[in-house]
Amino acid sequence: MFVSLMILLTLAAWTSGENPALQVVLTDKGLQYGKHVGAGWLQEKLGQVSLPDITGAVWGVKYTLSGITVQKCDFPEPIIKFSQDTTGFNTSILGFDIAVAGQWATSFGIIKGGGAFSAALFAVNVVSVVELGTDADGRLSVSSLSCNAQVGDIMMRFSGKTSGVIQAFVNHFKGRIKSEIQSKICPGVEQSIASLEHHLQAINVSFAVGPDLTLNISLTSMPLINPTSLTLGFKGEFISSKTHQEPRFVAKPFTLPQQPGFMLSGGLSEYTVNSAAYGYYSAGLLEALISDSMIPPGSPVRLNTTSMGPFIPQLPKLFPDLLMELQLYVRETPMVSFQSGAVHLTLLGTAKAFAIQLNSTRTPLFKLNADSSFSGKGWISDKKLKGKVAMDNFTLTLEETEVGKFDTNPLEKMVKMAVTMGLLAPVNEKLAEGFDLPRMKHGTLRNPVLKVEEGFISVSSDVDLWLTD
Ligand SMILES: *[C@@H]1O[C@H](CO)[C@@H](O)[C@H](O)[C@H]1NC(C)=O
Ligand SMILES: *[C@@H]1O[C@H](CO)[C@@H](O)[C@H](O)[C@H]1NC(C)=O
Ligand SMILES: *[C@@H]1O[C@H](CO)[C@@H](O)[C@H](O)[C@H]1NC(C)=O
Ligand SMILES: *[C@@H]1O[C@H](CO)[C@@H](O)[C@H](O)[C@H]1NC(C)=O
Ligand SMILES: *[C@@H]1O[C@H](CO)[C@@H](O)[C@H](O)[C@H]1NC(C)=O
Ligand SMILES: *[C@@H]1O[C@H](CO)[C@@H](O)[C@H](O)[C@H]1NC(C)=O
Repeated sequence: MFVSLMILLTLAAWTSGENPALQVVLTDKGLQYGKHVGAGWLQEKLGQVSLPDITGAVWGVKYTLSGITVQKCDFPEPIIKFSQDTTGFNTSILGFDIAVAGQWATSFGIIKGGGAFSAALFAVNVVSVVELGTDADGRLSVSSLSCNAQVGDIMMRFSGKTSGVIQAFVNHFKGRIKSEIQSKICPGVEQSIASLEHHLQAINVSFAVGPDLTLNISLTSMPLINPTSLTLGFKGEFISSKTHQEPRFVAKPFTLPQQPGFMLSGGLSEYTVNSAAYGYYSAGLLEALISDSMIPPGSPVRLNTTSMGPFIPQLPKLFPDLLMELQLYVRETPMVSFQSGAVHLTLLGTAKAFAIQLNSTRTPLFKLNADSSFSGKGWISDKKLKGKVAMDNFTLTLEETEVGKFDTNPLEKMVKMAVTMGLLAPVNEKLAEGFDLPRMKHGTLRNPVLKVEEGFISVSSDVDLWLTD
């Protein structure tokens, strides 16, 4: 049942033909580091826990073990491997020794006794096979495929009233007590995996990013496992929280280069960025009405017919000294493309100009197409994302006019300068300072490297993890 469901899910994921726009790769280096940190945390945690009381009865002898604390534990470095044929991880802990101490109490008919006890388990082996998958909503899921536990030897020492009787009793039933403890290990392991699964199920596969966009990070296929890495492919699509319209373009496939020297790699397709642009565009958010009051006070050029005189000589004659307004919008979704080493942005915009008559009527003057292209570079240094953008091309063409033809070249030069000085200069200043990399609750990136590749951006990094409660 479970297997056929998985096959169905896998097929559904493949036949939907969706390419992941976001990919995350965990390498063996990352897996081993994560294991090491996890094992250290577990060792520390085991030293602090109080184990639950154990009560039972063997052949009419009722016993209670209480106040059990771990005295010493020798937790060996676990072994963990990616397992391709079972799509998951195989973990084994071999030769684990643990010493505990507590109180005992027993009753056997009229014989009652109690006191302190100490116990040690030697050569405990636990082998667990964990399977990864996806659920119907595209969430990562984990389940225990098999678990096997063995206790090599057990030693118990009792002191106190009638301890001699219980000691003899325990020595006699040692094998039975050992197998009872042995049988409790795997349910404990399975419970931790179930609790991890419970946490995974609470993750939202789609969440709001700002007031206008929703990011969908459902998995597009089963986790991909080979002996050296785990790859997760996420949809990585923004959609408008208002229109819920999916973009009319699709994500192109891409393959993150193998980076075994780093713990983690991530890839972001240009599709993710373009879907965000489409989200804004489809919700009508990429338009603006510009009035003179929005032009910086220091600007030598104002948005009025007098000030436009040098560029459009007939304008002040037809409409003397009137304020103007510009209606700006994009004609198509702005498109970003990632090419080896650089990011390119094409913006096809239109500007409609109006004169505001003294009685507030808006008189249309002309319509210009303003097409621009920008290119940028990005890199990570001093734990900050830095970059630099430049305007590569800007053209103005007269589409419609109510005031007669005019040469757009002088206006084009002026706007180009205004964009370079007024817009790009402060942006570049901010980019040179850099932006802090996203922070994680339990870790930080170490020596991240960002690369712009054909169609996607990759970030490879080591991480420093700290596990706390
Ligand atoms: C992991 O364990 C499973 C079940 O025992 C086995 O089929 C698989 O081959 C193992 N994988 C590795 C990499 O050892
Ligand atoms: C997950 O989504 C639900 C509803 O869509 C929302 O109420 C909840 O706050 C979200 N949880 C997180 C952690 O974002
Ligand atoms: C996220 O994308 C998946 C796959 O395309 C889709 O099935 C799911 O409905 C989407 N979720 C939301 C909230 O849009
Ligand atoms: C138009 O701009 C010029 C400066 O270029 C200024 O002297 C004039 O007062 C402005 N006219 C209006 C109506 O704002
Ligand atoms: C506003 O003024 C303009 C120019 O003087 C004129 O053509 C137009 O009819 C006026 N509109 C109204 C509603 O009065
Ligand atoms: C700038 O854009 C125009 C029109 O889109 C195009 O003809 C021209 O080749 C472009 N120039 C550069 C340097 O890309």
